[in-house]
Amino acid sequence: MKELENIDTTDMKAMVASFPQMLRSGAPSDEILSKAERIRKEGIDGICLIGMGGSAIAGEIVKCLLADSAEEPILTIRDYVLPKTVDSRWVVVAVSYSGNTEETISGFKEAESRGSSTFVITTGGVLKDASDETRVHLMPAGFQPRAALPIIFAGVLPLVETLVNLKLTDLEKVSRNLELAATKWSSSNLKPGNLAMTLRNKIPVIIGWRHLIPVAYRAKCQFNENSKVFASSIQIPEMNHNEIEGTLSCKSHPISPVFLRSREEDERTRIGIESAAAIFEENGCHPKHLSLKFDSRIEETLGFIMYLDNVSVRLAEISGVDPVSVERIAQLKRKMGAREK
Ligand code: PA5
Repeated sequence: MKELENIDTTDMKAMVASFPQMLRSGAPSDEILSKAERIRKEGIDGICLIGMGGSAIAGEIVKCLLADSAEEPILTIRDYVLPKTVDSRWVVVAVSYSGNTEETISGFKEAESRGSSTFVITTGGVLKDASDETRVHLMPAGFQPRAALPIIFAGVLPLVETLVNLKLTDLEKVSRNLELAATKWSSSNLKPGNLAMTLRNKIPVIIGWRHLIPVAYRAKCQFNENSKVFASSIQIPEMNHNEIEGTLSCKSHPISPVFLRSREEDERTRIGIESAAAIFEENGCHPKHLSLKFDSRIEETLGFIMYLDNVSVRLAEISGVDPVSVERIAQLKRKMGAREK
């Protein structure tokens, strides 16, 4: 895709700035979507999205976005094995940017052996070779999987929407609105660098509700991998039954809670969040509340992701670390490899 060719894939800042363009990188072909529609019409019991790390998160987001409109269950699996319930009446979508992730390959093979209908979203590798090419959505290659999230999402969302018989989201429009939002942020106090400055030398704790739960998790991973810091993600309302007790340690631990505030919060949720925030405050920790103005759930979801991706890269710059390299992951793989020999 022409628009993506000029993005410097060695520069994480350039990649996160290109989030809206990546979202326009292309849906699965009409042939793939027609196959999905045919399978749906024949009758399915559920959709199982399999993938790991950066390739898994798009599925988590799609699952939460469609939770109250899809009639069939949507499962997300990050493991070698599939739950017993996944059988020949299920559709399994294997997502792996590289196509070489062993857990995803194993789950895909298991799905085939159970007679499930399968689709693959990848750039190549073993998964591409192992599958029927008419069911493979090939994505543009060359990005790190975590930076490729919008590309992966642009493949997963239309496929799942088709499988559950929902109207396809106009990602072109979403992308344009994200571009507009990013321009506004850069000239306001929502500049991602401002939030990054307040997170310096802190442990970011990102707190999300409903469709913002996978967003909080994604942000945690971006702070880990891009900014090289410990970070945590918490979900509302579950947090009010456990983590809230941990606020007693706020004085001795440098945590920095950030509540992602949704346009969809109901009264009950608002009261829960504000009461929890007051307890953080009483224990000496000042939570931030982050709201972004968008008109739809999907724009709010992707807007928060894009914003927090930018914050993680700005935090890396401020801390003087390279957001691209993942040396500790490589080191871990070397150590595990040496022990397996
Ligand atoms: O962000 C990353 O690079 C990782 O989390 C990968 O996504 C993960 O290792 C799985 O690889 P792939 O996305 O190629 O299946």
